Amino acid sequence: MLLRDVLLDDVDAYVRMRCDPVMMADLGGPLPREGMADKVRRDVEQAGADLAWIKMIVADPGTPEVVAGTVTLWSHDAGEGPVSEIGWMVLPEFQGRGLGKRAVRTVLEQARDQNRWGVVHAFPATGNAASNAICRSVGFRFRSEVQVTFAGRVFRTNQWSIDPGADLT
Ligand SMILES: CC(C)(COP(=O)(O)OP(=O)(O)OC[C@H]1O[C@@H](n2cnc3c(N)ncnc32)[C@H](O)[C@@H]1OP(=O)(O)O)[C@@H](O)C(=O)NCCC(=O)NCCS
Repeated sequence: MLLRDVLLDDVDAYVRMRCDPVMMADLGGPLPREGMADKVRRDVEQAGADLAWIKMIVADPGTPEVVAGTVTLWSHDAGEGPVSEIGWMVLPEFQGRGLGKRAVRTVLEQARDQNRWGVVHAFPATGNAASNAICRSVGFRFRSEVQVTFAGRVFRTNQWSIDPGADLT
């Protein structure tokens, strides 16, 4: 497995991940296709400026253009100071092979090694067994169930957090 920064050529992978009702079932539903080229452009800029880590998961390093999924680590301010958050997706044909878990662990190892991002939070939907399993097995601690409103819908999510310097297993 390889992680590489997002590239402008990744629009098709974004469309498959973010405009698909199954992939987005726990993430607010599919996004409109029209916005994807702009979204990729903004993400390439953010990653290039090192404001966020926006990594594409590549299963076979020999074909880095074939995207298996993505892991993103970013910081946002919800009014109570900056919060670091991590999110992930793996495309259906690559699911169930341990790639999501390895990719999340690799990004958190980089955060630990660079002493960056502080405590990192994740908010998988309560019913997303695989994402909650990823949190549990890389060393996140369960905090509480949190209601999140996204695109006008209310979701039940589990808030997990990890201090990569101390908790990574
Ligand atoms: C959730 C997702 C990222 C998992 O990626 P993946 O590469 O298939 O997961 P892995 O193979 O690394 O498995 C991770 C863990 O989940 C478990 N798992 C995998 N698929 C599962 C399933 N369908 N049901 C229950 N557990 C599952 C694995 O056994 C493993 O647990 P372990 O660490 O205890 O052994 C992927 O299914 C996905 O992108 N789904 C759609 C989008 C999404 O839900 N994104 C996350 C929103 S928070």
